[in-house]
Amino acid sequence: MNTSNLIKEFKNIFQTNQSPRSFFAPGRINLIGEHTDYNGGHVFPASISFGTYALGRKRGDRTLRFYSKNFPEAGVIECELDNLAYDEKHDWANYPKGMLKIVKEAGYEFEEGLDLLFYGNIPNGAGLSSSASIELAAGVALEGLFDLNIARLEMVQFGQKVENSYIGVNSGIMDQFAIGMGKKDHAMLLNCQTLAYEYAPIVLEDHAIIIMNTNKQRTLTGSKYNERRQQCETALAELQIKLSISSLGDLTPEEFELNQSLISQDINRKRAKHAVYENARTLKALEKLRAGDLFSFGELMNESHLSLQQDYEVTGLELDTVVQAAWEQNGVIGARMTGAGFGGCAIAIVEKEQVEAFQQKVGDIYRRAIGYDADFYIASIHDGAKEIKIEEVLK
Ligand code: GLA
Repeated sequence: MNTSNLIKEFKNIFQTNQSPRSFFAPGRINLIGEHTDYNGGHVFPASISFGTYALGRKRGDRTLRFYSKNFPEAGVIECELDNLAYDEKHDWANYPKGMLKIVKEAGYEFEEGLDLLFYGNIPNGAGLSSSASIELAAGVALEGLFDLNIARLEMVQFGQKVENSYIGVNSGIMDQFAIGMGKKDHAMLLNCQTLAYEYAPIVLEDHAIIIMNTNKQRTLTGSKYNERRQQCETALAELQIKLSISSLGDLTPEEFELNQSLISQDINRKRAKHAVYENARTLKALEKLRAGDLFSFGELMNESHLSLQQDYEVTGLELDTVVQAAWEQNGVIGARMTGAGFGGCAIAIVEKEQVEAFQQKVGDIYRRAIGYDADFYIASIHDGAKEIKIEEVLK
């Protein structure tokens, strides 16, 4: 598929001669700092070249029409500007609809309907944030088409609000932040408590970041995500009986060890332990990266995976198999799951010269153990969500 086809398709589907404007929101990987965002800790994500394209035009009436090339069987989904409530029948279109609703509720005015066509090349359910990507794609399209001038951080928070109060997933701010604020060849260290952030260049020279997709799909809503969050909140409440902290991110590992007996249930203690240690690891990882010590960075990635496996228990057979296989290969600096877990993707930092052998060998081990293929992609780190020129679509 090329650009002119996509425009033709837009015109066909929405029966218009008007050319649309084009927008793009990336997906994201997280280098380290997993399940720390909603615990008031740090994360270290980057936005990637896979993402969601949105083509849109204003219609002149009050009707909204959505179409996704990824879900052609759902057809054109239609609703009115005056009724943006969640509707199960609207399926995937609830994500852009939710974004429109939250932006409107925040006081931004747009009194005209839209035609919006989406096309995403992020593998579905792979833990690379296809949902946050579609939210932000809708957000920047809306902003562009109506000249709304939304502060970027506010837009990011709108996206999180869609997940939390519209879709019903209690996720943190990481995904929308990474996608809204991404910068080419940089990762972002974000303090999820204060939203203070800094960019760090990712210069890997003779190494590449490989994304390993287990092809084990997961959906956040149906998963144990909300349960993990709840367990951490229970642990925090018990710690707060003695400590004046506002999140687990306020604790150093030493303080945690001194006070962990305040947490009454073993399982909640393990969850909290991960959150505290992972936060410390994330800060240390940035230090190592800044010092050019990629090997120590890789070791911290490995420790992160083990903690997510043993204490947070969000990895599972597929992620453990692919990460274990990655650890065994030549030229591998580090590997870990990325995103929420329970399936989806892992990442590895691999010597460029070894990439081909790496994919072959890890692929073989995975197929033999799991019975189906894993997919591999080289991650390239791109800018965050924005309007693009029509020629850039699918370049
Ligand atoms: C999902 C959520 C994020 C974050 C990660 C785990 O991607 O959307 O907010 O909690 O899981 O780090």
